[in-house]
Amino acid sequence: MDIQRIFENNKLWVAEKLGQDANYFKKLSQGQNPQILYIGCSDSRVTAEELMGVGPGEAFILRNIANMVSNLDLSAMSVINYAVNILEVKHIIVCGHYNCGGVKSAMQSADLGILNPWLRNIRDVYRLHKDELNTIENEEKKYDRLVELNVQEQCVNILKTADVQRAYRKRGITVHGWIFDIHSGKIIDLKIDYDKVLEGIREIYHLDD
Ligand code: CO
Repeated sequence: MDIQRIFENNKLWVAEKLGQDANYFKKLSQGQNPQILYIGCSDSRVTAEELMGVGPGEAFILRNIANMVSNLDLSAMSVINYAVNILEVKHIIVCGHYNCGGVKSAMQSADLGILNPWLRNIRDVYRLHKDELNTIENEEKKYDRLVELNVQEQCVNILKTADVQRAYRKRGITVHGWIFDIHSGKIIDLKIDYDKVLEGIREIYHLDD
């Protein structure tokens, strides 16, 4: 890719936006008020804004390998804290995707260096759901299911934070688990029952008094 092309693209984009609204960038510079926090995979095929059809200012974004939410990840915890307490987003989305290389790597026996501790969180998801996953004989289906269960567990990790528990009780913030189906381009809502999930984890993870 010719890196210079990006600057040409940028010029065209600026012209297009100003053509629609002469004050477009003036308005953007005044601040942000996104209603969505989107946590997705770094995979170059899985865009964030483009797949949701939202523009600048509409979604606060965190992307990392395999859309993980680790309580030891200062970046993820800061993003959640800022999005929930300062921006007061109404929705938090964890969007995984089929054919996720991170999830695939976690299904294999290999020493991947610095990726080991990161991907071990996915191995933990596998261990938590081992009974279900081991009943699936087809490797592709097992892979797809682990992608889904990983999203579910990252949503649970979000619900373990005090910030989200407080916002859930005070203003009814909602957490959504989605899959981007890379074969069709469609977003699939996993329709996770959070009241039920919260009921199951409250005894151990309840922080908000
Ligand atoms: Co991925």
